[in-house]
Amino acid sequence: MNIRGAIFDLDGVIVDTAKYHYFAWRRLAEELGFDFIEADNERLKGVSRMRSLDILLEVGGFGPDAFSEARKEEMAARKNGWYVEYISRMTPREILPGVLSFLEQVRADGVRTALGSASKNTVIILDRLKIGALFDAVVDGTMVQRTKPDPEVFLTCASMLGGGILPAECVVFEDAEAGIEAARAGGMHCVGIGSPEILRGADRVVPGFAGISWEDIKNQINTLR
Ligand code: BG6
Ligand code: MG
Repeated sequence: MNIRGAIFDLDGVIVDTAKYHYFAWRRLAEELGFDFIEADNERLKGVSRMRSLDILLEVGGFGPDAFSEARKEEMAARKNGWYVEYISRMTPREILPGVLSFLEQVRADGVRTALGSASKNTVIILDRLKIGALFDAVVDGTMVQRTKPDPEVFLTCASMLGGGILPAECVVFEDAEAGIEAARAGGMHCVGIGSPEILRGADRVVPGFAGISWEDIKNQINTLR
């Protein structure tokens, strides 16, 4: 089966928003009186906002019932306020190296492109980066019930791409363990963006899109079958 759909995660794949999420969570942790180090931030990648808060609180030594739901909602909203301040200042120069050229190669090959993100801030980011037109479909955290590692976001992307594209005809580009798991659970091919030690479940891992050609990725996926 040929690849007919390419699905891209947003945070950490198209743009390094992971650092802005980290700054905002660290600010919240400081207010709560503990240090949140970058190594722990790895656990938050690809994970929903409220689940991220639970992980952060666990890192800070707080038990699951330390705060009421209302207080947690308030903390997550405050974190998001800081995060939105950071991302509202982003420019297209922050698109990660090689991304635009890679997307253009994929599209020139007749492959449809989708963006599949857990983020409820996807629209703001796409708008700041001015790349919305490079995706045939966009599915974000406001449109799905279950977040990664559940495959719902990617399966919704595949169906929104139209043309009867099957999950097995899709490749997902992901920087998070939860995202790789989601792609696998959806029966899709998966390319990890980052380090092979962390992204063990991927078919292939590349450090980023710089110097990576679509032709090369496509051929490698075809040889895996
Ligand atoms: C994912 C990020 O893309 O979106 C996570 O990798 C983040 O770190 C999640 O928690 C939800 O994002 P947002 O913007 O809705 O808080
Ligand atoms: Mg990501």
